[in-house]
Amino acid sequence: MCFKEFTRRRFEIVRRAAKLSPYCDFSRQHRPPVRREATGPGAPAFPLARRSALAQRCRVKRNTPRDNCILLTLLAIGLALAIKSMKAAEPDAPALKLLNAERTLIIGHRGYPQFAPENTMPSWKMALEAGADMAELDYYHTKDGQLIVIHDPTLDRTTDATNRWGGKKISVTGKTAAELQTLDAGSWFDRKYAGTKLPLLTDVLDFVQGAGGVTLIERKEGDAATCVKMLREKKLVNEVVVQAFDWQYLKAFHEIEPSQVLGALGPPKALGDGRPTEGMAKPLSATWLDELIKTGAKAAVWNDQVSQEAVADAHKRGLKVWVYTINEPALANKLLDMGVDGLITNNTGLMWRTVALRAQK
Ligand code: G3P
Ligand code: CA
Repeated sequence: MCFKEFTRRRFEIVRRAAKLSPYCDFSRQHRPPVRREATGPGAPAFPLARRSALAQRCRVKRNTPRDNCILLTLLAIGLALAIKSMKAAEPDAPALKLLNAERTLIIGHRGYPQFAPENTMPSWKMALEAGADMAELDYYHTKDGQLIVIHDPTLDRTTDATNRWGGKKISVTGKTAAELQTLDAGSWFDRKYAGTKLPLLTDVLDFVQGAGGVTLIERKEGDAATCVKMLREKKLVNEVVVQAFDWQYLKAFHEIEPSQVLGALGPPKALGDGRPTEGMAKPLSATWLDELIKTGAKAAVWNDQVSQEAVADAHKRGLKVWVYTINEPALANKLLDMGVDGLITNNTGLMWRTVALRAQK
């Protein structure tokens, strides 16, 4: 149902409800009651015929203009909430548009890490400039409950934490956001990126979404409710896509916010119901897809262990297949021949070139 049609139907329902309600007779609200000669004690001050059957049965006091005002306010709030959730599920929502696109999606893995430090603002800026359909990132919860963007669970590889604080394997979740944001997350990659900070998830969303891009948020650590709350507050439900290797997180997310497009990364360590996956063959298969679909995810986000058969199986189930991390044209071509729907890459420009050259064949 289109948004206009939905709105029209909602108003019709509200109008009918108002007509039927014993508390709400709009036809007489602004007119003075019809005076009649009293025929006995307790005679009505206005025609009984105008009372609804329910009002007569229950001997309900007629509504006052104040009652009507309250009722209308409640109906308006209900309508606004319903419209909001419908908007997130509209085919025009960016996440749904991308999910339903009939072309290959090119997704900038951690931004454009071929040429800029991963998971930093310069990296996403470059990915967007190169035309990435989505800019991917990874987030954790900090010690003080903020969402910070970094790939590894430790700070050693992509920041100067070890030099600055000493020690090794310094955990991201053991530091506050303020502490983490004193670190340099760019020098390890190239001196010209010295002083680049670890960003908060909200800051990246402001930047990527504000620039007209779509963020592919990968949850590395933290609960689903916090992420849903943040997306709702920022009005970003289905303006972004959310993915995780943790299928229990996805299931929980889907239960709280069923309209949000989710990607299930695989192969996971456990299924959506918590069963461990040890012993299961790693390549994408019908068995994985049957479990994946139970999480509410709409895309299987797999490594290059996919096959034409598995991709067709996914499509039969209404799922898309996005593959990571594909940086070589030869491998990209092989996967595109299998029918995959998206390439997650460190080199957005090269993957666009690869896709463009296929179109010339
Ligand atoms: O988007 C897929 C990819 O990001 C998953 O692997 O380890 O790079 O987060 P990883
Ligand atoms: Ca990732």
